[in-house]
Amino acid sequence: MTAPAAPTAAPTADSIVPFVAGIFERRGSEEYLGEPVTMAEHMLQAAHFAEQAHEPEVVIVAALLHDLGHFTSEFGTFSMADTRDRHHEEAGAAVLAPFFPPLVIDCVRHHVAAKRYLCATDPDYFNALSAASVHSLSLQGGPMPADEARAFGELDNAAAIVRVRRYDDMGKEAALATPPFDHFAPMIARVVAAHTSR
Ligand SMILES: [Fe+2]
Repeated sequence: MTAPAAPTAAPTADSIVPFVAGIFERRGSEEYLGEPVTMAEHMLQAAHFAEQAHEPEVVIVAALLHDLGHFTSEFGTFSMADTRDRHHEEAGAAVLAPFFPPLVIDCVRHHVAAKRYLCATDPDYFNALSAASVHSLSLQGGPMPADEARAFGELDNAAAIVRVRRYDDMGKEAALATPPFDHFAPMIARVVAAHTSR
């Protein structure tokens, strides 16, 4: 069976769940550079760890979607100049912003900054990072200076952003069994419905 083609229209509140499902289905088997998991396994593991920690659905959904911006070619904004890791957090936040509450968008937008924050504020954090994550840290600007870390800690959703970052870091386990995407799809639908029906 051939995989369905990427949608050509921008998602709506009605199509955002199938839009995300399509990305997981068509693109999920792509390699997560330098890690022993695919992109889909990584995002499912992050959501799984959030669920195991009894997080509210909105945080589980944020963990599930945090790296969606890696697939910028799905958003109709692809350029040949794009590289895999260039501002993927902003691209993900932009495509999700019309449908999800600020907590989800903040977790997506700030998940790279959260790594820089934790490297500056938690001495044990850096030592536990994967080799690929240490490598990308230098490309991302290294640990935050004190004034930037102070401002980050005062963001509205700082606590949730940091927790999602930790689930992100945990989601790199080879051959870990997690629930499939379909387990999380109704949670995405409920979070979207709660936000867009206001
Ligand atoms: Fe990630």
